[in-house]
Amino acid sequence: MTEVSRSASVSAPVSAGKGAGPAAAKLRCIEEGCGATYSIEEALVVCARCGGLLEVELHALPGPVRRLLPSVWAERRASLDPADTSGVWRYRELLPISADGPLVTLREGNTPLYEAPRAARYCGLDQIWLKHQGANPTGSFKDTGMTLAVTHAVRLGARTLACASTGNTAASLAAYAARAGVRAVILVPHGQVSSAKLAQSLDYGASVLELEGNFDTAMRVVRELAEDGSLYLVNSVNPMRVEGQKTVAIEMMEQCGWRVPDYVVVPGGNLGNISALGKGFVEMLRWGLIDRLPQFAVIQAEGAAPFAHLLAAQQRNANAEIEPVADPRTLATAIRIGAPVSWKRGLRVLAETGGTSITVSEQEIADAKAILGRDGIGCEPASATTVAGIRRLAADGRIRKGETVVAVLTGHLLKDVEYTVKYHSGRLTEPEGAAAGEPKSILGAFANPPARVPATRAGILGYLRRDAPNSSAE
Ligand code: F0G
Repeated sequence: MTEVSRSASVSAPVSAGKGAGPAAAKLRCIEEGCGATYSIEEALVVCARCGGLLEVELHALPGPVRRLLPSVWAERRASLDPADTSGVWRYRELLPISADGPLVTLREGNTPLYEAPRAARYCGLDQIWLKHQGANPTGSFKDTGMTLAVTHAVRLGARTLACASTGNTAASLAAYAARAGVRAVILVPHGQVSSAKLAQSLDYGASVLELEGNFDTAMRVVRELAEDGSLYLVNSVNPMRVEGQKTVAIEMMEQCGWRVPDYVVVPGGNLGNISALGKGFVEMLRWGLIDRLPQFAVIQAEGAAPFAHLLAAQQRNANAEIEPVADPRTLATAIRIGAPVSWKRGLRVLAETGGTSITVSEQEIADAKAILGRDGIGCEPASATTVAGIRRLAADGRIRKGETVVAVLTGHLLKDVEYTVKYHSGRLTEPEGAAAGEPKSILGAFANPPARVPATRAGILGYLRRDAPNSSAE
């Protein structure tokens, strides 16, 4: 397999069954009162005029092409072309850059949609579906956006790519930069990244810089560094990340037989994920691929919830702006973020879909994660906010029993094993500073601690008789 794959046959017409190139596109600033537009070929990550967030605007696709897309995409699953085996580039008609050139791909996407009966019972619902982004090459959803951002960066001639990260963006950038043969510079908050994520970045050969401060500090510094163009920024402010990640919505709809779920639920950190999924659904509606939008729910940890607080503040004042949390705290370190850069994009998605954002406690996250494990699936703590949030929304009557719900699990169980082992051994405690006094223990309601047993047949059989499994664990 080549490091940077050159894709053939992508510019053949749709009628030939191969698929057209991408839709023509430009970059547009999302700030009201600015709206500046730029060519896709400009190496811009934020608006050159006002510093606002940019997003890709696709031009209209011809009607006949649109109608054929689902069958073209389905056919590509049988192809061996690198652009077809990627679960991102397969949907290239809705991407802003051409697949007809060098691609930096690790066959990302192609993630499963699982039914989760125990999690559904736990939430009081008939069914829950899990779109498991942990099945990506580096174990998180970041890969779906990174393939696009790194491919674009390499074509623009960038040699040094950079990000601030709580660990997963870092691991993903490190892998894709290694594939492309360019340098990755990663800024992480010292002592706040799980060792599994750190290990990935180190192994993939990135320059890993551990900074004092938190993720928000690292984000501020990396944006300053990228200002003069010497580093190319691949955090989710980069509109190409959003474009890649929006294909998760398309793949989810294919797996749902193009029937739109009532709810799509995601964790919220920097809010790139909600921005991307929302954009994916809005575009599918616009192109006539679906007939309605789902409602979105963005779930945040109580100690790191500026977006959920903003939604609550907007009930009182429609013009309320985000108030950063100066010292965010949560054991779900992936979403330990106080100043999310994409909050305006996220807000727009919730306005378009009538969606919501709520918080869940550390205890709720830990229990939901254990329940997901019992479904044989598992995820990292940040991802489990989804099921904790669904349980709350169902208890409040906001999600009804028979409604269809898809939770997006953003990262793999093995991304944070320290957390999981502590939970099951009764050693997990609330994050420091979350409450006054001694850190409070998190109760292992669904804990499955390891047992010390004598190394004899009789000892083990005796243990197994005493500890017969309880089938109604949840
Ligand atoms: N879940 C996981 C596992 C994550 O790694 C992140 C973000 C999120 C959820 C939140 O997604 O930022 O798009 O709202 N991780 C970033 C990182 C910040 O650096 O890896 P978001």
